[in-house]
Amino acid sequence: MQIVHSTAELDCVLAARRNAGESTALVPTMGNLHAGHVSLIRRAQQLAPCVVVSVFVNPLQFGPHDDFDRYPRTLDADAKLIAAEGAAVLFAPSISDMYPGGYPPATSVQIDGPLNAVLEGEFRPGHFAGVATVVNILLNRVQPAVAIFGQKDYQQLAVIRRMVADLGMPVRIEAGATLRDIDGLALSSRNQYLQAQERALAPRIYIEMQKIAAGLRAGSRDFETLCAEPRSQLQALGFRPQYLEVRAADLSVPAASLKQFVILAAAHLGSTRLIDNLIVDCE
Ligand code: PAJ
Repeated sequence: MQIVHSTAELDCVLAARRNAGESTALVPTMGNLHAGHVSLIRRAQQLAPCVVVSVFVNPLQFGPHDDFDRYPRTLDADAKLIAAEGAAVLFAPSISDMYPGGYPPATSVQIDGPLNAVLEGEFRPGHFAGVATVVNILLNRVQPAVAIFGQKDYQQLAVIRRMVADLGMPVRIEAGATLRDIDGLALSSRNQYLQAQERALAPRIYIEMQKIAAGLRAGSRDFETLCAEPRSQLQALGFRPQYLEVRAADLSVPAASLKQFVILAAAHLGSTRLIDNLIVDCE
C-alpha cells in the first residue's frame, strides 16, 4: 500500500494506476477506522482493482460546538488496517493540501431544499455543505469510477447522491450496510467517547427503533404515535433525543400508502452525539 499525503504524490500514484488500465474505487473516511469502515473497503475491492481510502478530519463539516478538536486521530493504526485489507492507496492530506486555495475555501457546495433543512440539516447547520464540499474535492482529485458510503449516515448518502446527480459528476455512488456491535449499537468512531455506563445504554436507540419498525410492519401508520413512546423511553433513560422520526426513503414526510420507510434517530448521551437509522420494508 502506498501512503500519500500530498495531492502531487496522489496524482503521480493514480496516473501510474490509470496507465496500467486500473479503475479506482474511493472510500472517504475521517479515520479512526472500525469494522464498519473495513466493510466499505472490502466492498470497494469487489468493485475496482485500485482502492483508495482517504483519511481526513474535515474541519469544514464541524460546527463551532462540535468535536473537531477531540475527534480521534489514529493514522498509524488506520494505515496498518488499510494495508492489511490490501487497499492500494491511503490518502491522508493536510488541511492545506485538501484546500489548496486556502482555508476556509471561498467556493463551496450549497445544498438547498428539504434535504438540508430536516433532521441532521436542522440540527447541524452547515454540516452537509462541509461534507459535500470535501467529497466534491476528493472526487475531483481521485476521479474514481465508484465511491462507497455507509448507510449509517443515511442523510449524508442522500446528500451525496443528490450532489452527484445535480452537478453531473461522472461517478457511481454505492451504499454499504450499517455494521453493528453484537448488542445492536451501530459502530462509530464517536462510540469511544461513551463512559462505560453510557456504552451499556447506547444500544437502546436501536431497540427503540426496532419497536417503531415492528409497529410499521404490523400496519400502523400513525407515525407520530409510533415514535412518541420510544422517544420518552430514551428521555427517561437519560438520552437527550434531537429527533426520532419515520420518513420516506427520500427523507420526505411519509405517506401512509408507502411500503418502505426509514426510521432516523439522533440523541445526545452524556457528551456523545449518536445517530442511527433503520430501513423498514413493509412489502
Ligand atoms: P466517517 O464518519 O469516518 O465515515 C466514513 C464512512 O464510513 C461513511 O460513508 C460512513 O457512513 C461509513 N460508516 C460509518 N459507520 C459505519 C458503520 N457502522 N457501518 C458501515 N459504514 C459506516 O462520514 C464521514 O466520515 C465523513 O462525513 C466523510 C464522508 C468522510 C466526509 O468527510
